[in-house]
Amino acid sequence: MNDNFVLKGIVCYSRSQTEIAVFPDSYVVCEKGISRGVYRTLPEGYQTLPLTDYGDKLILPGLVDLHTHAPQYPFRGTGMDLELVEWLQSRAFPEEARYSNLDYARTAYRQFVERLTRSATTRACVFATRHREATELLMDLLEDSGLTTFVGKVNMDRNAPEDLQEESAQVSARETRLWLEETEGRYRRTRPILTPRFIPSCTEELLESLGDIRQERGLPVQSHLSENPEEIRWVKELCPQAEFYGDAYDRRGLFGRDPSGRPFPTIMAHCVWSSPEEVVRMKENGVFVAHCPASNTNLSSGIAPVRTYLDAGLRVGLGSDVAGGHTESLFRAMTDAVQVSKLYWRLVDQTVKPITFAEAFYLATKGGGAFFGNVGSLEEGYEFDAIVLDDSSLSHPQALTAPQRLEQAAYLSLDLLGLHAKYVAGRQLF
Ligand code: GUN
Ligand code: FE
Repeated sequence: MNDNFVLKGIVCYSRSQTEIAVFPDSYVVCEKGISRGVYRTLPEGYQTLPLTDYGDKLILPGLVDLHTHAPQYPFRGTGMDLELVEWLQSRAFPEEARYSNLDYARTAYRQFVERLTRSATTRACVFATRHREATELLMDLLEDSGLTTFVGKVNMDRNAPEDLQEESAQVSARETRLWLEETEGRYRRTRPILTPRFIPSCTEELLESLGDIRQERGLPVQSHLSENPEEIRWVKELCPQAEFYGDAYDRRGLFGRDPSGRPFPTIMAHCVWSSPEEVVRMKENGVFVAHCPASNTNLSSGIAPVRTYLDAGLRVGLGSDVAGGHTESLFRAMTDAVQVSKLYWRLVDQTVKPITFAEAFYLATKGGGAFFGNVGSLEEGYEFDAIVLDDSSLSHPQALTAPQRLEQAAYLSLDLLGLHAKYVAGRQLF
């Protein structure tokens, strides 16, 4: 049950892409899981609701992780001197093969879900592995955590070791249908998302079947796009008919629009090297970009031109991309996004301005939140996802403003030391 309640503290949210709104000593009201707005004086109608006073602490919207790999969590922060293809073959694939063993999956997924629950993330789009049973186990654990997530059983029927790759396109499609049937109606907060790993992992036959399944069930899609130069060359070889990488998905109805032109939600992670044609198609099809700066640095993929995407009107959010990214911290993802945008400006193109901290906060809240609907703010009408940040462990000889406190907490990854409280869709997790 969602309670009706009021929180008091220093309330902050993104008013626009460039502005963090701050309401000192203010109230935010939750009714039936929805924000009823932020007030300096509590309206009479809400005065009988239970109130929690968080004093000088910051009350922020929960953060949204648009792209992460649950099974890769155990090896985060290792193998970070490799590029994508070698890293997949030597690190990611061998680890993911372990998830055929449900005992291993249970231990590993429990640890992942526990850490995600403690983090600043309230919503996430999660890759599992190709294993149906382990994916269902992950969904059970995420549902119990109270987080709101999309979870994908991964599809991969080529270019992987035999113990990980699915036997054929038919087997992959059959397992996917079975997974969807078995989980249908089982969860309130955990939804399936179709997850072709990336073009090198999926035969044309498999992509075609996934396009059919997507259409039949009206599913959203998540995948990887234009991450690494070697990967992009490989896609050209594997799919010469495609006009560009993203077109290889679009031809099969897996890129934000179905064959009749009807839109459906799609996330593409990375988009570091997207061509102008690809950017135009993403914009036309309403595809979300999951910007994953830590991963793009660790795997030497490059720097995604996020400023260019924002200026072009693309929908953009942030992803931790664990374990290409080494941490689940979205505070870290925000500051990484700012930092790499400065390097892009200095080293690549001085006409492309770096993004500001306020813009990074927007990406982590409203930007990614839009994938989940009305999510990513504490303004009236948004789903009530909130985190309460206690930064009293940082002492200052001078007073800092609330945005300065938020920025400092982000740069110091204070979220990894624990948050004071967390609410998802009006439900308090701790
Ligand atoms: N492309 C295909 N699979 C993966 C993955 O697991 N991580 C990243 N970063 N890129 C991928
Ligand atoms: Fe990824």
